[in-house]
Amino acid sequence: MRLPVSQARLRPGIIELAQGYPAAGALPVAAWAQAVAGGLREYGSDALMYGHPTGPGPLLRWLCDRLGAADGRVIRPGEVFVTAGASHALELVASLVLRPGDAVLVDSPTYHLALRVLADHARLVPAPADEHGLLPDETAKLLDALRAKGVRVPLLYLVPTYNNPTGGCLPQQRRLALVRLARRRGLLLVEDDTYRELAYDAPAPRSLYGLAEAGEVIRLGSFAKTVAPGIRLGFLCATEEFVARLADRGYVDSGGGVNHTNAVAMGWFGGTGAYDEHLGRVRERYRYRRDSLVRAVAEHLPAARFAVPAGGWFLWLRLSGVDTGALLPVAERHGVGYLPGARCFLPGAAGPAQEYLRLSFSMVAPELFAEGIRRLAAAVVEAQSVRSGV
Ligand SMILES: Cc1ncc(COP(=O)(O)O)c(C=O)c1O
Repeated sequence: MRLPVSQARLRPGIIELAQGYPAAGALPVAAWAQAVAGGLREYGSDALMYGHPTGPGPLLRWLCDRLGAADGRVIRPGEVFVTAGASHALELVASLVLRPGDAVLVDSPTYHLALRVLADHARLVPAPADEHGLLPDETAKLLDALRAKGVRVPLLYLVPTYNNPTGGCLPQQRRLALVRLARRRGLLLVEDDTYRELAYDAPAPRSLYGLAEAGEVIRLGSFAKTVAPGIRLGFLCATEEFVARLADRGYVDSGGGVNHTNAVAMGWFGGTGAYDEHLGRVRERYRYRRDSLVRAVAEHLPAARFAVPAGGWFLWLRLSGVDTGALLPVAERHGVGYLPGARCFLPGAAGPAQEYLRLSFSMVAPELFAEGIRRLAAAVVEAQSVRSGV
């Protein structure tokens, strides 16, 4: 029996709009082979040695220039730590900052698998939010109430730019208020910035990291969506003290910087301009897919309410009066998959979580969108007719 090579599991006959996976055609197979060859040519045996603890110099330098330009301030190499993706970055932050018995505030809705990473370390509490994102004043009240009961609440996790699952961006006023809240209350904001580079209509808003003073925000980044998830490469930005603590971990001392050879290749990919060329093509591809899925939903499922996302991979639909968890088996029988909205909320979060669902436009060929949405619409009609006994 042939053992699987990747995580992708496609079910025959189902149009999979659930997974946040890249389009196979967007993965830079040939360009990445060149990047690896380029890194090996340029750095020779250093590219295959144990890596520098915080990441190879060429990647750190390129990242600092790029992030600094987007943030409108200087980012020093000592503020960056290269990781095996954003998930690994989140795990590292949680393991350094959290202690048993702590609570963590999380935006709602949020990236459902970040909930799993954080739940390995702490009790999770949903921060108050509305359809535009997290509400800073209400969050401050909740934080005060928890701390008044003696609960340690060191951090808050959110995806403020092209959120997974909503696709939305936290408005500027709330970004500023949140950073003020972090400053006044000594709360660390963990900004998951995984989708920043997938901006389709205008440049992405300034990051929380760029708005804050040192020590108020840790930013997580990833090359999983722009380059490839399989290279397991991302980074975090934090204070030089925090990065030094990470670099001093025993596993780094023992194993060196993570994914060193891929990190060297990424430095080459970025530094030669090949990444920018690739990113331009990827943005075009996903912009086209976003527009196609928006058209398909507007035409075939007009009852769905949604906001058109300016970036990222997802459309967040609300179907009033529909329980999207109960609908899923019916939809799969009709041949379409999606992520039920409740997966992106913690139990106890306010709002009609079960009326939402997330569609991903990243992986499936856009020619299948209209058919996928027709199937979803047929499933909604069937579920409603069963409920009303028609
Ligand atoms: C918001 C968010 N953070 C992190 C990740 C995982 O990133 P990585 O593959 O770099 O670990 C994802 C992937 O879906 C995501 O949507």
